[in-house]
Amino acid sequence: MKRALITGVTGQDGSFLAELLLEKGYDVHGTIRRSSVDFRERIAHLEGHPHFHLHYADLGDSMSIMQVVSKVRPDEIYNLAAQSHVQVSFDSPEFTADVDATGVLRILEAVRLCGLAGSCRIYQASTSELYGKVEEVPQNERTPFHPYSPYAVAKLYGFWIVKEYREAYGMYCCSGILFNHESERRGETFVTRKITLAAARIAQGKQEKLYLGNLSSLRDWGYAKDYVECMWLILQQPEPDDYVIATGEQHSVREFCLLAFRRAGIELEFVGEGENEKGIDKATGRVVVEVSPDFYRPTDVVNLWGDPTKAKKELGWDPTKKTSFEELVNLMVDADMAKVAVERAGEQVKLNLEEYLEKGIVK
Ligand code: NAP
Ligand code: GDD
Repeated sequence: MKRALITGVTGQDGSFLAELLLEKGYDVHGTIRRSSVDFRERIAHLEGHPHFHLHYADLGDSMSIMQVVSKVRPDEIYNLAAQSHVQVSFDSPEFTADVDATGVLRILEAVRLCGLAGSCRIYQASTSELYGKVEEVPQNERTPFHPYSPYAVAKLYGFWIVKEYREAYGMYCCSGILFNHESERRGETFVTRKITLAAARIAQGKQEKLYLGNLSSLRDWGYAKDYVECMWLILQQPEPDDYVIATGEQHSVREFCLLAFRRAGIELEFVGEGENEKGIDKATGRVVVEVSPDFYRPTDVVNLWGDPTKAKKELGWDPTKKTSFEELVNLMVDADMAKVAVERAGEQVKLNLEEYLEKGIVK
């Protein structure tokens, strides 16, 4: 039985990857961090599985990394842990650098010092943010990097140190240059999930308005569950290499909004420009989307579009046979419509209970 170690197992990708590896018969070990509130919603259904194990480790703490690597002695490591929010990296640049850059080095060194350099394969979660202020459209493995945020600069170090260890020590370590991938498990402050949750809340009368930043930003959005397959495929190749993983399609934040609100039953029309642009509910004339400069970034990456030709050819991974953009938006909105409906039902039960207590119907 192969042993895999996933750092960042509580995240969106970590949870999907853990499911995939368990299905493939792996013994799966994941790292978690101590926090005052235990938030393990995405992996709660896996806890108790005989081949799913959790260990405390922090990418900022080399001793904890050494400890977990020496204890698990994994065949494969998937380094997904990161401070993954680009906007937050402007507020916490040093923390982001420590975890997203030096953290990668800590993993590589732990593998080497534990004597696993010749046996353990390592996947590094790299990112299309490396292309940043893009120098070519669409972007492939040969496109020059131009990182455009503290997050991207830190991830660039991660990319190069992986390449360095591959060349210097002959280690099997690879970077997946993944373009944006989303899901019903996406963190609520990333733009897609912020939109689908707001569309569901507005449609069900639980929110008045959605405030967004740059509506014209362009992304190549795929489905996270499809993308974790590539992480695994990358580590199964005869030789280690780096791959762009993308759908090859590009859409704007505005377009995502239009589709998401439509799925939630609201037909939107955008009017105005820049900070004055608004999304209006065509049926009622009500403004439901507004622009707020609070969500503008000091430098913003606005034109990401991936070319997955190499992944198609070498990994046999074909994005045209995977979840489409519209299917992705729909599944996210459907999940949030259900989530909001459950929350509303819960509130109603609470109200009923309070009323019954007041009237003395229940004690
Ligand atoms: P995510 O949902 O934000 O998950 C990040 C994970 O990293 C969480 O499990 C988090 O743990 C953990 N983590 C954060 N800081 C840590 C630290 N100091 N030590 C140990 N663990 C730490 O991110 P994701 O969307 O799944 O992305 C996974 C990886 O792919 C990240 O490295 C991200 O940068 C990269 N990536 C993502 C995308 C995308 O579109 N999703 C695209 C390209 C690359 P807590 O739960 O304790 O916070
Ligand atoms: N988060 C957010 N919130 N973004 C907004 C908003 C808003 O209210 N309004 C507009 N945007 C724009 C951002 O300016 C950006 O251009 C785009 O929407 C996407 O933002 P995010 O969803 O936050 O994702 P990201 O592209 O910055 O980063 C994600 O993808 C990277 C891969 O390209 C993260 O998952 C990174 O970890 C990942 O590396």
